[in-house]
Amino acid sequence: MNISKETLKELIKKKLNKAGLSEEHAEGVADVLVHADVRGVHSHGAMRVEYYAERIAKGGMNTNPQFHFEKTGSNTAIFDGDNGAGHVAAKLAMDEAIQMAKEHGIGFVGVKRISHSGALSYFVQQAAQQEMIGISVCQSDPMVVPFGGAEPYYGTNPIAFAAPAENGEAIIFDMATTVQAWGKILHARSKREKIPPTWAVDQNGEATTDPFKVNALLPIAGPKGYGLMMMVDILSGILLGLPFGGKVSSMYHDLTEGRNLGQLHIVINPAFFTDLTTFKANISQTMTDLNEIKPAPGYDRVYYPGQRSSIRQKKNEENGIDIVDDVYQYLVSKDIHFNRYDQKDPFAK
Ligand code: NAI
Repeated sequence: MNISKETLKELIKKKLNKAGLSEEHAEGVADVLVHADVRGVHSHGAMRVEYYAERIAKGGMNTNPQFHFEKTGSNTAIFDGDNGAGHVAAKLAMDEAIQMAKEHGIGFVGVKRISHSGALSYFVQQAAQQEMIGISVCQSDPMVVPFGGAEPYYGTNPIAFAAPAENGEAIIFDMATTVQAWGKILHARSKREKIPPTWAVDQNGEATTDPFKVNALLPIAGPKGYGLMMMVDILSGILLGLPFGGKVSSMYHDLTEGRNLGQLHIVINPAFFTDLTTFKANISQTMTDLNEIKPAPGYDRVYYPGQRSSIRQKKNEENGIDIVDDVYQYLVSKDIHFNRYDQKDPFAK
C-alpha cells in the first residue's frame, strides 16, 4: 500500500492514542516512526506500532510519565523519562542538549528510564537542523555474542552521528553495531534462504548459515564492533546508573514492566571550535568529494553516509511511502493489538 507521509502519521497517531498514549505523545512517537519509514528504514517505522500498542495496553509503557530534567553541570544533564515513550523523551532531551550547546559549546544529556526510542537518526538530525553536530547512542536488548563468545551479552547498540552542511543539508550516519538486524534473520527464515556465515552464530557460538539455528548475532568487524557496542553500553547504561550488558531488559520479555533503557545525546556547536560557515562548506565539500570518488567495479557510485536515505526521503515525500499491506490493514483496523508480542523470543517467528 502506498500512502502519503501525512496519512501514515495520522494513522499511527490515532492507533497509539487509542492504545492509551496521550495525543501529544502519540504524535511524538508517530513523528519518529514516519521519519524512519520515509527514509526507507522500515524496520523502525510503522511496523513497530502493534508492538508498542500491546506494551502500552499491558502497562509496560507509562502513558502518563512525569518527565524530570535536571542539570548536573554547565554542559551536563539527566533526563528521566519515567518509562514513557522513548521517542518523546529522547526528542525533548535532545532539545535540551542543543540548548546547552548553543550556550556553552557542548551539551551532554543522559536519557534514562525510557522505552524503545526507534531510529536514532531522528535525534541527531534535530541537532543538524540547528547547525550543530549530534551524536546519540543507546542500549538495546541482549542478542549479540561478545567476540569469541557463545552466549549473547550486548544489544545491537546503535550509534548515530549528524553534521550540518550548506543549504540545510546534513550528513546523517546511523547504524546498529551488528552485521545485520535480527529482522534480516526472520526475513531469511520466511524465504527459506541461507544467510551469510558472517551474520550470526548457533547455540555453540559457531557461525551458521541456517537462519533457523541462529542463537545470537555477530558484532560488526569482530572485536572492533564488539568494542563499540561495549562503549555504547557504558555510555548509555553504566554511566546513567542503569542495568547494563546482559541485564538490559528484553523487548518482549515482559510487556507489563517499564524497560528502563538508557540513551546518551552529545551535541557539539561547531561555532565554538571554528568558523561555522567554513565548517558547513567543508561538510558540503566532503559530500561532493565522496560522490566524486571513482566507483569500484560493481558499484554505480560512492554515496556519503545517509545519502541513500535522503534520496529515498525526497522520493517518498513526493510519491508516497510503500507500507507492507499487513501493517496498513492493522493501522486502519479497529483492533489495538493481537496479543502477539508478549514473551516472544526475538529469534522466533
Ligand atoms: P543500515 O545498515 O541500513 O545503515 C547503516 C549506515 O550505513 C547508515 O548510515 C546508512 O546511511 C549507511 N549506508 C548504507 N549503505 C550505504 C552505502 N551504499 N553507501 C554509503 N552509506 C551507506 O542500518 P542498520 O544498522 O540496519 O540500522 C537501522 C536503524 O536501526 C538505525 O536507524 C538505528 O538507529 C536503528 N536501531 C535502533 C535500535 C534501538 O534500540 N533504538 C537498535 C538498533 C538499531
